Amino acid sequence: MMHTTISEASRHIGQEVTIGAWMANKRSSGKIQFLELRDGTGFIQGVVLKNEVSEKDWAAAKALTQESSLYVTGAVREDKRSPYGFELTVTSIEPIQITHDYPIAPKKHGVEFLMDHRHLWLRSERQHAILRIRNEIIKATYDFFYEHGFIKIDPPILTGSSAEGSTDLFHTKYFERDAYLSQSGQLYMEAAAMAFGKVFSFGPTFRAEKSKTRRHLTEFWMIEPEMAFCDHEGNLKVQEQYVAYLVRKVLQNCGNELKVLERDTSKLEKIDAPFPRLSYDKAIDLLHEHGFRDIEWGDDFGSPHETAIAEHFDVPVFVTKYPAEVKAFYMKPVPGREEVVLCDDLLAPEGYGEVIGGSQRIDDFDLLKKRYEAHHLTDPSYKWYLELREYGSVPHAGFGLGLERVVAWICGLEHVREAIPFPRLLNRLYP
Ligand code: 4AD
Ligand code: MG
Repeated sequence: MMHTTISEASRHIGQEVTIGAWMANKRSSGKIQFLELRDGTGFIQGVVLKNEVSEKDWAAAKALTQESSLYVTGAVREDKRSPYGFELTVTSIEPIQITHDYPIAPKKHGVEFLMDHRHLWLRSERQHAILRIRNEIIKATYDFFYEHGFIKIDPPILTGSSAEGSTDLFHTKYFERDAYLSQSGQLYMEAAAMAFGKVFSFGPTFRAEKSKTRRHLTEFWMIEPEMAFCDHEGNLKVQEQYVAYLVRKVLQNCGNELKVLERDTSKLEKIDAPFPRLSYDKAIDLLHEHGFRDIEWGDDFGSPHETAIAEHFDVPVFVTKYPAEVKAFYMKPVPGREEVVLCDDLLAPEGYGEVIGGSQRIDDFDLLKKRYEAHHLTDPSYKWYLELREYGSVPHAGFGLGLERVVAWICGLEHVREAIPFPRLLNRLYP
C-alpha cells in the first residue's frame, strides 16, 4: 500500500493510500461514520461506510476515540465541500493506540485550562494554523534577508551585562560570576556589521518585565538586522519592504490557515511599502487632538497611545524621532536638534502596537562615551562596544522585529501567547 500524507493526498486522486493519522473528531449516523483525521500536514475527512468495509474495520472505526492514533487506508476522492478539497473513502483501519479521556474536548475550554494543556492544545486546527503561519514568517525572513545580501550572525544569549542598560534582565550564575540572558543582540550585531556589512540575527530574547499585557512575553523571538553605511532613511526602507514581504508571503502561501482563523484578509491585502511616517512631534499633536490631554512632549507612549495613533492608518505607521530621554543611549541625535534621536517604532494596524524598534546608531566615539556617562553605564564590558567607534567607525543602523507580535497581528490573535509554541509569561513556565 502506498503511504502518503494528507497534504500530498491531492496527488493520489482515485488511488488507495495509507496515512498515519490521529482522529481529531468523529460523527456517525447509523451506517456511516465520518472521521476527522489529522496527520500534522493537514486535516481530511475519512468516510467509513458500513456496507463497504469488513465487520472488523467497521468495529475498529467505532472504537476510535478522540486522539486515537491509527493507520488509515482508503481511496482519495475530490470533494469540493472539504476545505482541503479532498476526502478519503476508508477501506481499512489499523489502530495504533486507543486514547482514553483526552483532556481537550472539541467544546470550548477556558484559556488557562488550554494553556496548562498546551502540549496537547497544539494539535487543534486553530493552533496548527497559527504555528504554520509562524513557520511561513520564519521562512520568509530568511529568504528576504538572504535575497538582500545579508548574512546571519548569531549573537550570544549568555551575556555579562545589559545591552540596553535596562534592569529587566534574567539573572543566572555563570560559574563564580553573574550572567544575564540576552535582552537584545544588537551591540554584538553592530560588531558583526563592521565585519560583514549587512547582517541579521534571529533568536530567543529574554525580558524580565513584570508586564501582564496581550503584547508581552518574557521569552520571545527577535530578528535583528544591522547595516553598515546605512542611515535612518535607509533603515526605514528595509523595514517596510521586509514587513510588506512577510504579509505578502503569508497571503500567498497560507490561504487555508487564514481561513481557519477567520482572518479578514482584505486588511492584509492593503499592506504595501512605503508605510506612512509620523514624527513624534506630530504624534503628540495627534494625541492632543484626540482627547489625550495628559500626555506631554517628552513622555513615552503606552499601548493606548500607540493604538490611537495606529487607528488613523490602515497600514503600519512609523513613528520617528522620539525624545532622546525615552530611548536607548546609543541612538544618534538628529543633527541640529539634539533632544530627539534618529529612531523609529513601527506600529501595526488594528491595535497590535509596536512590532519594530529601530534606530541609526551613534558612530562618533566622543559622543557615545558621553552618552554612557550620562546614562551611568559604567559596565566595563562596554569597552569593546566603544572600540567599534575607534577603528573605522561608519554610519550604521538597524532594528529589531518581534516575531510573536507580527504573528499575532497577521493571524488576528487576541494575545501573543498563542503566537509561540510554548509561551513564557509572568505566571507561566509550564508546560
Ligand atoms: O524595541 P525593542 O526593545 O528594541 C531592541 O531591543 C533593539 N535593541 C532592537 C534593535 O534595534 N536591534 O524590541 C524590539 C521589538 C519590539 O518592537 C517588539 O516587537 C518586540 O521586540 N518585543 C517584544 N515582544 C514580545 N514580548 C516582549 N516583552 C517584547 N519586548 C519587545
Ligand atoms: Mg521598543
